[in-house]
Amino acid sequence: MAVPGRKSKGSHLLVAAFDFGTTYSGYAFSFLNDPLKIVTNQSWIAGSEKLISLKTPTCVLLKPNKEFHSFGFEAENKYADLAEDDEHHGWLLFRRFKMKLHNTDGLSRHTTIEDINGTSMPAMKIFSMSLRFLREHFLDALGKQTCGVLEKDVQYVITLPAIWNDSAKQFMREAAIQSGMESSRIKLALEPEAASIWCQQVTTQAKQVLTGTGSKYMVIDLGGGTADISVHEKLCNGQLKELHKASGGPWGGSYVDKNYIKCVTDIFGTESIEKFKLEQMADFFDIQREFETKKRGIKGDTEGKITFKISASLKEIYNESEKESLTDKLSSLGLSGKMSVTGDKLRVDNSIVKSWFDGPVNSMIGHVKGILAEPKMKDVKLMLLVGGFGESHYVQDRMKNEFGSKHVIIPEEAGLGVLKGA
Ligand SMILES: Nc1ncnc2c1ncn2[C@@H]1O[C@H](COP(=O)(O)OP(=O)(O)OP(=O)(O)O)[C@@H](O)[C@H]1O
Ligand SMILES: [Mg+2]
Repeated sequence: MAVPGRKSKGSHLLVAAFDFGTTYSGYAFSFLNDPLKIVTNQSWIAGSEKLISLKTPTCVLLKPNKEFHSFGFEAENKYADLAEDDEHHGWLLFRRFKMKLHNTDGLSRHTTIEDINGTSMPAMKIFSMSLRFLREHFLDALGKQTCGVLEKDVQYVITLPAIWNDSAKQFMREAAIQSGMESSRIKLALEPEAASIWCQQVTTQAKQVLTGTGSKYMVIDLGGGTADISVHEKLCNGQLKELHKASGGPWGGSYVDKNYIKCVTDIFGTESIEKFKLEQMADFFDIQREFETKKRGIKGDTEGKITFKISASLKEIYNESEKESLTDKLSSLGLSGKMSVTGDKLRVDNSIVKSWFDGPVNSMIGHVKGILAEPKMKDVKLMLLVGGFGESHYVQDRMKNEFGSKHVIIPEEAGLGVLKGA
């Protein structure tokens, strides 16, 4: 790629956006002369399971001296390796920490977050380390794909949940500055607004219905941690007006994973699971990643049983300590006929798998219905579904069923909508 003509001092040639999610994070960039040609990192490596990912887990690993070691899949894999050799003591692994800040009213410089073993660190440090990693990864990618583009040509955009208050926004800006981004080059963007913009730009279907002045629509961002719901109106000057204050709750896709792990824990027992996590952490991560791929295949009309791979080491741990056979255990839990374990496979009836989704999905649907029932929402006929969990066919089927009278639009690559819009 050649360097497009450099403009006057203080302007930028390209925009680099960072979406710092509860479960996944990523970056994307595009040049001013071709803004819709958006480059994302195509190659976050997920490890042993084949999981294609355009974002990487929001996960930070620190060495025992509290220096940064790695981010994303690499951090998870390294920690699992260390644990396998019992060398992980003193290392700190922070996962899904943005969620902990969701309900913190006064997110500040002094807020702390805990790693998976309960050791606290200043949230600011962990956020700025994460952003520094993403920024450096981006600069590296930029350097490989272009020549002569400098960091001073970059406009940085960082996305934020719409429900965060001003002090949380200030926190994020400061973390960005500490990550090495120059203050004057940082812009903050609200996640639902970024998603809105993306849908208007590239989804032909959405473009037709959304670009008209006065169109009113709901943006539902279903992420890993939360469902964030906003209602926008397109004004004649092209700007967006917030018709309903952003709201939502802890109803993201990670709650489906939690329900699955809870089910596995009910079967194998808390003690076996704790031992398994401790001794076979890599296998534990693999179980979670395998679930992630299976979860993506579930639809409203999925029938029969779904097979999940559990690890042979988990069964061994169970057999060492428990006398009851797994078949008897399932029957005492009232699950025979609905679930079975053969070899390293757990087979689960679709009705149970769907119930894992229904926890978060029912809450979200109830909330959306409540908003739509308000008198000032009566003209809202359109709903945009974005976010990774919005890509779930099961979720899409439920939404179309529940809101048959509305027009539910799901843009292509819904999971990247926020990032690409930003
Ligand atoms: N095709 C799919 N089917 C089902 N679930 C999916 C699919 N793709 C992604 N997910 C789920 O979506 C969630 C991640 O979504 P996303 O990347 O939008 O979240 P995030 O931005 O990290 O979180 P948040 O917006 O809550 O901060 C995960 O729970 C993941 O399992
Ligand atoms: Mg998100």
